Amino acid sequence: MVNVLVIGSGGREHALSWKLSQSSKVDKVFTAPGNGGTENNIPIDIDDLNALAEFAQKNNCFTVVGPEAPLAVGIVDKFNQMNLKIFGPSQKAAQLESSKIWAKNFMKRNGIQTARFEIFEDPKKAQDYVKSLNYNVVVKADGLASGKGVIVCNNIDEAIAAIDTILVKKTFGDAGNRIIVEERIDGIEASYIALCDGVTALPMASSQDHKRIFDDDKGPNTGGMGAYSPTPVIDNILAEKIQNKIINKTIQSMKNEGIIFKGFLYAGVMIRDNEPYVLEYNARMGDPECQPITMRMDFDLYDYLVASVDGTLSVMPTISWKNQSSVCIVLASKGYPESYPKDEAITGFDSVPKNAMVFHAGTKKQNGNILSNGGRVLGVTALGDTLESAISNAYIAAEKISWPHKYYRTDIGKKGLSYL
Ligand code: AMP
Ligand code: GLY
Repeated sequence: MVNVLVIGSGGREHALSWKLSQSSKVDKVFTAPGNGGTENNIPIDIDDLNALAEFAQKNNCFTVVGPEAPLAVGIVDKFNQMNLKIFGPSQKAAQLESSKIWAKNFMKRNGIQTARFEIFEDPKKAQDYVKSLNYNVVVKADGLASGKGVIVCNNIDEAIAAIDTILVKKTFGDAGNRIIVEERIDGIEASYIALCDGVTALPMASSQDHKRIFDDDKGPNTGGMGAYSPTPVIDNILAEKIQNKIINKTIQSMKNEGIIFKGFLYAGVMIRDNEPYVLEYNARMGDPECQPITMRMDFDLYDYLVASVDGTLSVMPTISWKNQSSVCIVLASKGYPESYPKDEAITGFDSVPKNAMVFHAGTKKQNGNILSNGGRVLGVTALGDTLESAISNAYIAAEKISWPHKYYRTDIGKKGLSYL
């Protein structure tokens, strides 16, 4: 028997820990640093690579990395050098997410469909460029900015202000030393995640996130306010297109360039006229997409993560999914994504029906109570035989839980219903 160490503290990591603990091959699942819902929390920060490696070595752990930050600084390379088994992409492979410019240039030289773009360091040149265009743009900071370094612009004035925010005011610090100015693609957005071993890429079911804070996709972008899986936005024909023209092509092109991509490859796609365009890559599972996806898994996730590390996905049995829909409603603290109160006691967990899972994110345990401890606090996730019933089950469960500043969107999954 082996132990598992899941790195991270969000809803994604709670869902991964929950699923991995069901494996008959796994003894104990540790989470570092974890949250109020995860078991066996280890108080080590996600950026303390030495302490994480030491813990994994001492406790015979197979390590699973949840968030992007440790991947971007090379946690996988470090563990590999120490002969420790770890799931996720190397630092070079994680560049697909850690440098948006690297990713855009990679797509361009390999013919992977993405929005037209230019790269700038000089604000004046960038501003002259947007003035010369006859289409709307999106301005993006090059580096990691916790999902906030992207400004979608409706006109030239907004584009000029966005350039100023990132390149001059340095709102995102050094992540904004260089920017991408790219064409705004107006279409339908979806998430497509695959599990890869460098050669083979197994689809992890389609999903759709809800990034804006308010209903009807209004207000600022967040880390994600809810997700459901699968999404009817991606039908079989489109899924095949994304798998071949984006996922397989990405893995193969990386290999041709001498980079083996192992781990979850997440393509955020915009669909326009039935064609998928890559908006962004992530080198990890999405959060909250991971929560509904793991609930639908009818296979031993541990076996497949090991196969990703070992390069043996092509000989694994076909993955099977519960033939149900799954919906995750994120319960946040009012004020998120800006400032919000913490340390409020959360009640109602015992009243949540058995068909729902409450994945914790920004919570902590104190004297037997669960307190709010972040912007996105819980991800209430439920299955249903149809998308409509999954939505209803998830909202029934979400309404059982309370704390003073609880806030959530009331339209998660509605975009999917309009497609059926
Ligand atoms: P990202 O962090 O790159 O996922 O961008 C955040 C959000 O900005 C995406 O989820 C999209 O909603 C939007 N976005 C990014 N790039 C584009 C684009 N080229 N056209 C339209 N919307 C975009
Ligand atoms: N839900 C979007 C992300 O994980 O980046």
